[in-house]
Amino acid sequence: MTHPVATPQAFSITVQPSGRVFAATADESILAAGIRQGIGLPYGCKDGACGSCKCKKLEGMVFHGPHQSKALSEEEEAAGLVLTCCAMPLTDVVLESRQVTDESAFPIKKMPSRVTTLEKVSDDVMVIKLQLPANDTLRYHPGQYIEFILRDGARRSYSMANAPHTGPAVELHIRHMPGGKFT
Ligand SMILES: Cc1cc2nc3c(=O)[nH]c(=O)nc-3n(C[C@H](O)[C@H](O)[C@H](O)COP(=O)(O)OP(=O)(O)OC[C@H]3O[C@@H](n4cnc5c(N)ncnc54)[C@H](O)[C@@H]3O)c2cc1C
Ligand code: FES
Repeated sequence: MTHPVATPQAFSITVQPSGRVFAATADESILAAGIRQGIGLPYGCKDGACGSCKCKKLEGMVFHGPHQSKALSEEEEAAGLVLTCCAMPLTDVVLESRQVTDESAFPIKKMPSRVTTLEKVSDDVMVIKLQLPANDTLRYHPGQYIEFILRDGARRSYSMANAPHTGPAVELHIRHMPGGKFT
Protein backbone atom coordinates (compact mmCIF):
# COMPACT_ATOMS: atom_id res chain seq x y z
CA MET A 1 0.00 0.00 0.00
CA THR A 2 1.35 3.44 -0.85
CA HIS A 3 0.91 6.50 1.29
CA PRO A 4 0.28 9.86 -0.28
CA VAL A 5 3.23 12.23 0.15
CA ALA A 6 2.31 15.83 0.84
CA THR A 7 4.01 18.16 -1.64
CA PRO A 8 4.68 21.67 -0.36
CA GLN A 9 2.41 24.32 -1.80
CA ALA A 10 3.99 26.33 -4.62
CA PHE A 11 3.60 30.09 -4.56
CA SER A 12 4.00 32.40 -7.50
CA ILE A 13 6.84 34.93 -7.33
CA THR A 14 6.60 37.86 -9.75
CA VAL A 15 9.55 40.19 -10.31
CA GLN A 16 8.80 43.72 -11.49
CA PRO A 17 9.37 45.69 -13.68
CA SER A 18 10.37 42.77 -15.94
CA GLY A 19 7.22 40.78 -15.12
CA ARG A 20 9.19 37.50 -14.85
CA VAL A 21 7.27 34.85 -12.87
CA PHE A 22 8.52 31.67 -11.19
CA ALA A 23 7.34 29.21 -8.54
CA ALA A 24 8.72 28.80 -5.01
CA THR A 25 7.65 26.66 -2.10
CA ALA A 26 7.73 27.59 1.58
CA ASP A 27 10.69 25.26 2.17
CA GLU A 28 13.19 26.96 -0.16
CA SER A 29 14.50 30.48 -0.45
CA ILE A 30 13.08 32.69 -3.17
CA LEU A 31 16.65 33.11 -4.48
CA ALA A 32 17.28 29.35 -4.74
CA ALA A 33 13.97 28.85 -6.55
CA GLY A 34 14.72 31.75 -8.91
CA ILE A 35 18.23 30.52 -9.76
CA ARG A 36 16.89 27.00 -10.38
CA GLN A 37 14.40 28.44 -12.87
CA GLY A 38 16.90 30.68 -14.70
CA ILE A 39 15.81 34.02 -13.23
CA GLY A 40 18.84 36.30 -12.81
CA LEU A 41 18.14 37.59 -9.31
CA PRO A 42 21.24 39.30 -7.86
CA TYR A 43 23.12 37.69 -4.98
CA GLY A 44 26.52 37.55 -3.28
CA CYS A 45 27.04 35.37 -0.21
CA LYS A 46 23.69 33.45 -0.32
CA ASP A 47 24.08 33.49 3.44
CA GLY A 48 22.29 36.60 4.78
CA ALA A 49 25.62 38.45 5.23
CA CYS A 50 26.14 40.87 2.36
CA GLY A 51 22.78 42.42 1.38
CA SER A 52 23.44 41.93 -2.37
CA CYS A 53 20.13 40.10 -2.80
CA LYS A 54 18.09 42.80 -1.04
CA CYS A 55 15.01 43.93 -2.91
CA LYS A 56 11.67 45.54 -2.27
CA LYS A 57 8.60 43.41 -1.60
CA LEU A 58 5.62 45.04 -3.30
CA GLU A 59 3.04 42.39 -2.29
CA GLY A 60 2.78 39.21 -0.24
CA MET A 61 4.35 37.74 2.89
CA VAL A 62 7.68 35.99 3.50
CA PHE A 63 9.40 34.28 6.43
CA HIS A 64 13.00 35.41 6.92
CA GLY A 65 15.53 32.81 8.09
CA PRO A 66 18.67 33.86 10.03
CA HIS A 67 20.53 36.85 8.57
CA GLN A 68 22.84 39.62 9.74
CA SER A 69 21.40 43.03 10.61
CA LYS A 70 24.09 44.69 8.47
CA ALA A 71 22.56 42.90 5.48
CA LEU A 72 18.96 43.75 6.43
CA SER A 73 18.12 45.94 9.43
CA GLU A 74 14.84 45.74 11.34
CA GLU A 75 13.88 49.14 9.89
CA GLU A 76 14.50 47.91 6.35
CA GLU A 77 12.48 44.75 7.02
CA ALA A 78 9.64 46.86 8.43
CA ALA A 79 9.83 49.02 5.30
CA GLY A 80 9.19 45.93 3.15
CA LEU A 81 12.72 45.06 2.03
CA VAL A 82 13.63 41.37 1.83
CA LEU A 83 16.76 39.26 1.43
CA THR A 84 15.78 36.72 -1.20
CA CYS A 85 18.58 34.32 -0.09
CA CYS A 86 16.90 33.74 3.25
CA ALA A 87 13.25 34.63 2.57
CA MET A 88 10.76 31.82 2.08
CA PRO A 89 7.32 32.69 0.66
CA LEU A 90 4.20 32.37 2.81
CA THR A 91 1.90 33.67 0.04
CA ASP A 92 2.26 34.69 -3.60
CA VAL A 93 4.86 37.48 -3.65
CA VAL A 94 5.62 40.43 -5.93
CA LEU A 95 9.18 41.80 -5.73
CA GLU A 96 10.92 44.74 -7.36
CA SER A 97 14.36 43.99 -8.79
CA ARG A 98 15.62 46.07 -11.68
CA GLN A 99 18.55 43.68 -12.19
CA VAL A 100 16.16 41.01 -13.46
CA THR A 101 15.75 41.62 -17.15
CA ASP A 102 12.93 40.47 -19.36
CA GLU A 103 13.46 37.48 -21.60
CA SER A 104 14.12 39.67 -24.68
CA ALA A 105 17.10 41.43 -23.05
CA PHE A 106 20.72 40.59 -23.87
CA PRO A 107 21.12 36.86 -23.30
CA ILE A 108 23.66 35.78 -20.67
CA LYS A 109 26.91 35.04 -22.48
CA LYS A 110 29.80 32.80 -21.42
CA MET A 111 33.20 34.12 -22.59
CA PRO A 112 36.80 33.14 -21.95
CA SER A 113 38.98 35.99 -20.72
CA ARG A 114 42.63 36.71 -19.97
CA VAL A 115 43.75 38.64 -16.88
CA THR A 116 46.05 41.34 -18.29
CA THR A 117 46.67 43.51 -15.19
CA LEU A 118 46.40 43.12 -11.42
CA GLU A 119 46.97 46.42 -9.61
CA LYS A 120 46.69 46.70 -5.83
CA VAL A 121 45.23 50.18 -5.21
CA SER A 122 44.79 49.90 -1.42
CA ASP A 123 45.33 47.39 1.38
CA ASP A 124 42.37 45.32 0.29
CA VAL A 125 41.30 46.44 -3.19
CA MET A 126 42.69 45.07 -6.45
CA VAL A 127 41.91 46.55 -9.86
CA ILE A 128 41.71 43.71 -12.35
CA LYS A 129 41.69 44.14 -16.11
CA LEU A 130 40.34 41.39 -18.32
CA GLN A 131 40.88 40.97 -22.02
CA LEU A 132 37.91 39.51 -23.88
CA PRO A 133 38.11 37.67 -27.21
CA ALA A 134 38.79 40.15 -30.06
CA ASN A 135 36.24 38.52 -32.36
CA ASP A 136 33.36 38.67 -29.90
CA THR A 137 31.55 41.73 -28.57
CA LEU A 138 30.12 42.24 -25.14
CA ARG A 139 26.89 44.20 -25.34
CA TYR A 140 26.47 46.26 -22.24
CA HIS A 141 23.84 48.14 -20.26
CA PRO A 142 24.86 50.23 -17.21
CA GLY A 143 24.34 48.22 -14.03
CA GLN A 144 25.26 44.95 -15.73
CA TYR A 145 27.66 42.65 -13.92
CA ILE A 146 29.80 39.64 -14.74
CA GLU A 147 30.24 36.34 -12.94
CA PHE A 148 33.42 34.30 -12.62
CA ILE A 149 32.76 30.58 -12.74
CA LEU A 150 35.11 28.88 -10.28
CA ARG A 151 36.53 25.37 -10.71
CA ASP A 152 33.86 23.82 -8.49
CA GLY A 153 31.07 25.56 -10.40
CA ALA A 154 30.52 28.27 -7.74
CA ARG A 155 30.00 31.75 -9.15
CA ARG A 156 31.05 35.20 -7.92
CA SER A 157 29.57 38.42 -9.30
CA TYR A 158 31.44 41.70 -9.98
CA SER A 159 30.19 45.03 -11.25
CA MET A 160 32.11 46.48 -14.17
CA ALA A 161 33.96 49.64 -13.23
CA ASN A 162 34.05 50.85 -16.86
CA ALA A 163 31.81 50.64 -19.89
CA PRO A 164 33.54 47.59 -21.40
CA HIS A 165 32.35 48.13 -24.99
CA THR A 166 34.24 51.47 -25.10
CA GLY A 167 37.68 50.14 -24.23
CA PRO A 168 39.93 47.18 -24.86
CA ALA A 169 39.46 45.70 -21.38
CA VAL A 170 36.87 45.05 -18.70
CA GLU A 171 37.90 46.70 -15.44
CA LEU A 172 36.83 45.34 -12.04
CA HIS A 173 37.51 46.69 -8.54
CA ILE A 174 37.59 43.76 -6.14
CA ARG A 175 37.79 43.97 -2.35
CA HIS A 176 39.53 41.17 -0.48
CA MET A 177 37.02 39.42 1.81
CA PRO A 178 39.05 37.73 4.60
CA GLY A 179 38.69 33.97 4.18
CA GLY A 180 36.80 34.50 0.93
CA LYS A 181 36.97 31.62 -1.50
CA PHE A 182 37.52 33.72 -4.62
CA THR A 183 39.05 36.96 -3.32
C1 LIG B 1 25.72 42.10 -8.52
C2 LIG B 1 26.96 42.01 -7.65
C3 LIG B 1 28.05 42.81 -7.93
C4 LIG B 1 29.19 42.73 -7.12
N1 LIG B 1 30.24 43.54 -7.41
C5 LIG B 1 31.34 43.51 -6.65
C6 LIG B 1 32.45 44.39 -6.96
O1 LIG B 1 32.43 45.18 -7.93
N2 LIG B 1 33.54 44.30 -6.15
C7 LIG B 1 33.61 43.43 -5.08
O2 LIG B 1 34.65 43.42 -4.39
N3 LIG B 1 32.58 42.59 -4.78
C8 LIG B 1 31.45 42.60 -5.54
N4 LIG B 1 30.42 41.74 -5.25
C9 LIG B 1 30.58 40.73 -4.17
C10 LIG B 1 31.25 39.46 -4.76
O3 LIG B 1 30.36 38.81 -5.66
C11 LIG B 1 31.62 38.40 -3.69
O4 LIG B 1 30.50 38.14 -2.86
C12 LIG B 1 32.79 38.81 -2.81
O5 LIG B 1 33.92 39.16 -3.62
C13 LIG B 1 33.20 37.67 -1.85
O6 LIG B 1 33.59 36.52 -2.57
P1 LIG B 1 34.54 35.43 -1.90
O7 LIG B 1 34.43 34.16 -2.70
O8 LIG B 1 35.90 35.98 -1.71
O9 LIG B 1 33.91 35.23 -0.44
P2 LIG B 1 33.03 33.98 0.09
O10 LIG B 1 33.91 32.79 0.22
O11 LIG B 1 31.80 33.86 -0.76
O12 LIG B 1 32.60 34.52 1.53
C14 LIG B 1 33.52 34.76 2.62
C15 LIG B 1 32.77 35.37 3.80
O13 LIG B 1 32.32 36.70 3.48
C16 LIG B 1 30.89 36.78 3.54
N5 LIG B 1 30.54 37.51 2.32
C17 LIG B 1 30.52 37.03 1.05
N6 LIG B 1 30.22 38.00 0.17
C18 LIG B 1 30.07 39.12 0.91
C19 LIG B 1 29.77 40.47 0.58
N7 LIG B 1 29.57 40.85 -0.71
N8 LIG B 1 29.68 41.37 1.60
C20 LIG B 1 29.87 41.01 2.90
N9 LIG B 1 30.15 39.73 3.28
C21 LIG B 1 30.24 38.80 2.30
C22 LIG B 1 30.37 35.36 3.52
O14 LIG B 1 29.15 35.23 4.24
C23 LIG B 1 31.50 34.62 4.22
O15 LIG B 1 31.36 34.74 5.62
C24 LIG B 1 29.26 41.82 -6.03
C25 LIG B 1 28.15 41.01 -5.75
C26 LIG B 1 27.01 41.11 -6.55
C27 LIG B 1 25.82 40.24 -6.23
S1 FES C 1 23.11 37.03 -1.02
FE1 FES C 1 24.18 37.95 0.62
S2 FES C 1 22.55 38.53 1.95
FE2 FES C 1 21.56 37.45 0.38
